[in-house]
Formats: sequence, C-alpha cells, structure tokens
Amino acid sequence: MAKRCDLSPVWAQLQAHYAASGRGFDIRQAFVADAGRFGALSFEAPEVFADLSKNRIDAATLALLLALARDCGLEARRDALLRGDPVNHTEGRAVLHTALRAPAGSGAPFNAEVQASLDAMLAFAESVRRGERGDITDVVHIGIGGSDLGPAMVVQALQAFGRRDLKLHFVSNVDGHDLAPVLAALAPKHTLFVIASKTFTTQETLANAQAAKAWFLAAGGTDIARHFVATSSNTAAAAAFGIDTAFGFWDWVGGRYSLWSVIGLPIAIAVGADNFRELLAGAHAMDQHFATAPLERNLPVLLGLVDVWYRNFHGFTSRSVAPYHQGLRRLPAYLQQLEMESNGKGVDLDGHALSLGTSPVVWGEAGTNGQHAYFQMLHQGTDVIPVEFIAVKRPNHGASGELAEKLADQHRKLLANCLAQSQALMQGKTATEALAEKAPTASATLDRDVLSRHRSFPGNRPSTTLVLDALTPRSLGALIALYEHRVFVTGALWGINSFDQWGVELGKALCNQLLPRLESGDTVGLDGSTAGLLTRLVVA
Ligand code: F6P
Repeated sequence: MAKRCDLSPVWAQLQAHYAASGRGFDIRQAFVADAGRFGALSFEAPEVFADLSKNRIDAATLALLLALARDCGLEARRDALLRGDPVNHTEGRAVLHTALRAPAGSGAPFNAEVQASLDAMLAFAESVRRGERGDITDVVHIGIGGSDLGPAMVVQALQAFGRRDLKLHFVSNVDGHDLAPVLAALAPKHTLFVIASKTFTTQETLANAQAAKAWFLAAGGTDIARHFVATSSNTAAAAAFGIDTAFGFWDWVGGRYSLWSVIGLPIAIAVGADNFRELLAGAHAMDQHFATAPLERNLPVLLGLVDVWYRNFHGFTSRSVAPYHQGLRRLPAYLQQLEMESNGKGVDLDGHALSLGTSPVVWGEAGTNGQHAYFQMLHQGTDVIPVEFIAVKRPNHGASGELAEKLADQHRKLLANCLAQSQALMQGKTATEALAEKAPTASATLDRDVLSRHRSFPGNRPSTTLVLDALTPRSLGALIALYEHRVFVTGALWGINSFDQWGVELGKALCNQLLPRLESGDTVGLDGSTAGLLTRLVVA
C-alpha cells in the first residue's frame, strides 16, 4: 500500500538518525574510518557508474532510507507506473514513456502501436537524410518545454553522430529574437520545419509556427506540405494549421517525457534511425535495471533516496548539476523541467497540503565553465549545495593528428578539474592549513590570520559523480532514463503526482487576458503594479 514518506514510522527513525549522526556527519572522517567506503558506496547501472561515497551517508543511513522506501510501497508504485496504471490521476492518464523504448515483441503496453509509430517516424527521418524530401540542409524545430528541451539537449549531446551538411535549429521562445536570426540565415527550399507540440495549442509554438509559415511564403517557398511537418497528439489541430504530414502520439506520453516518441524526430533526423534506436535501447536497459534491480543496488532508487535525505532532513534546497562534457551543456536546463515541473508540488495525491519540502532547485552549467562562475559559492558560500558531477571517460572530438593529441591532453585536464572539484568540496582547507601556505599577494597591512580565514574552505560539501565510458546514443539514453526514474522515486516518496503541471496554467490564463490590454493600454481592474508596468510597456 502506497504511503507518503513522512507518514511512515521509519520517518521518525530517520529524524532520530539525523539528530544523532546525520547532522554532524563528516565525509572526510567516514573515509578515514572505512577504507572500503568507495567500494561500498559506488554502484553500476547500465552505461552509468555512480560514486555516492562523497555524500553524507553511511550504511546505516542507506538502510533506513531503503526501509522507508519499502514501507512507503515504492516497489508497488513503480510497478503500477510500468504496468500503465493511471498514476497521473489528476489528468486520468497512464504514464508510459517506458513503453516507448521497449523493444518490439517485448509485451510492453501498446507495443504494436509504439513500433508502428517509431517505424514511420524513423522512415521519415531517413528519407530527409537521404534527400528524398528535397535538398534539405536545415531543419527548424519549433516547440517549447518538453517539446523542445529533450530533443535540443540530445541533438547537442550527440553532435559527434550528426552530419555537417544537415543543421538542426531549435526555436522555442515566443520572443521573436529566437526565430528571427534562425530564419535570416535560411532559404525556404532547403528548410524543413518541424512543429512540435503535444497539445498543438501552446501559444509560443503556434506563434512561431505561424511566423515561420509567413516567412516561408514571403521568401518564395511554395510547397508548405513538403516543408512543414508536425509531431503532436492533436493531429487534427495540426491539420487545421495546414500541415499534411503529422506524426501522432498518445496522451500517456508526458511532455517532459516525450523525446522518446515522435517528438524525437529532430534527433532521428540529426543522428539517423540506428542511433535513435540505440538511444531507446540505452533507456530501456535503465528501465530494466529500475524494474528489477534490488533496491540496495537500484541506482535511480538510491539517488532518489539521497535526494530525500538532503531535501527533507538536511534541508538543502537546491542541487547543482555539472556535466564535464560540452555536449551536455543543456542537460541542466533539461533536468530543470524534468525535476521541477514534475516534483514542484505542494499537495499530496489526496490534495492534502504537504509539510515537507518537495523539488529542490536544479541548476548548473557545464564544467569547467561553472568553476569560473558560481563554484566560489559552492566552496565557500553559507549554503550547502550538493553537486552532481558527470564525467565522460573517452572523448569523441572527431579530430586527428596533432589536434587530436592536443585535445586528448585537454580531456585529461577536463577530468582532472572534475575530480579536483569534488575533492575540494569534500576536503576543504582549514584556516591553519591556509596560514601555513606561502602568503599570496595581499595588502601588506592585512593580518595573516584574517587572510587565512578568507582562504579557508569548510569542506564536507557533498557530491555525487556519475561516470559514462563515452557519450553515445546508448549511454545518453540510459543517463536520461536514470534521471526520469530518480524523479519518479522522490515524487513517489513525497506522495505527489509527478506527472501533471497545473502550476503553469494560471500564468497562461492571465497572459491571455493581458494580451489585448498591451494593444489597448486598458488597465481597468488591474493591480497597481501590473497596471503601472503595462502602461510603461504599451507602445503608443
Ligand atoms: O507549459 C508547460 C507545458 O505544458 C509543458 O509541460 C510542456 O512540455 C510544454 O508546455 C509544451 O507543451 P506542448 O507540447 O503541448 O506544446
């Protein structure tokens, strides 16, 4: 029977454990006390190795967290998800993104429909790649949120698997500064537009699609049917828009879980059908791991449990993601939607207000760039922010000769930086250690003790490091699925619906009401601030 985790008796045991040893847990001492800590707290999942040993946990913490998961019926919740029960109860829907990556004949729900849809989408992608849809050199993908972030992130991450003669552009923002520069460099006859919207009602996407259509016709384009395709679960609306070729999908695919569906069309165009199938295979391998691995070795479960430990016991309100691979620079943005739109909820499944914290703020930047921006705060700021490092062992620069050697050396520098950051966060530096160092340039009158305090680091700052052997379609698929399941785990323990997003609706409705006022300048009935700002923004 599913239970909200703060209503479980194990919750009180965890609170007691936190008070007794969790609050004062010192990661450095834990390594001294246990030579086998790395081995005990590192885990293998398909395509992903995870080092959890630099976290404020030990065997006792994990045992209690696992007991919590069991007492809350996590396994039953997981099985209900994978079986296709309507776990998204506020929208009356199943949540079956896992079915999208189940192989043909696997017996997964909707397998025949999924395979037919996949085959049709991949056949189309290959026809574009072979030039059968005309001399297409540029694909403009128009979508937002889940209809943008996933495909955009994956295409960027798998750039090494793409083709130079086929460029993918992603336009999401209703701000015309997104679309205009993309169109400025294109010619209609060489351009294919993919309009991606699950609902086909999203203001931003429809506005950009209309603008793209107008540009296409004005710039001499003639064959809309050939140059515009849609990916949507509302193919009727796509047809009404004037698009003949629409790839449909189902309401049981959530927007932020949709890159595995026909929403992944730009990925398939960029990297080809075989690589798209590899992406699915990697995700499926992680699905199998999530479905079958004992909780003690189940990586999405373990990561989710540590998230609960930090969010609800330590009170950490954010988590930073630092992928040490330039191709993964959009991963933090993708994860923001995945985690914060899924788990940024304030009531439980029965509508009761929660008294525990839910989604942390998820944010980050590719390493090493982040080191020269916000890592200062991670090291010496007053808040503790767990960091998730992602390291990729083998690069794929596609270079040769001397450049390849130089880049191989740079890759070692990249990895050394990644390791050094988690080491520094954990180790810290005492004021005494700082004092013993040769004094750097500083004001001659500055007291050395004062300087040493500025130059000390508290340390004991937790981090997790995920390691991929290489960034491939398969490993990326597994990595994304790992995150999806981890988000499900925390949401299930918090007893929330991770699959709706009512919180975005109010702003959309108010926007529709304000829109005509931006033309008329009418401020009647508005609050003082909105009225004042609107008056300032109206162009006479
Ligand atoms: O506004 C939030 C949201 O509904 C997301 O959940 C979704 O991914 C995005 O908008 C785009 O929606 P659609 O694919 O229907 O255009």
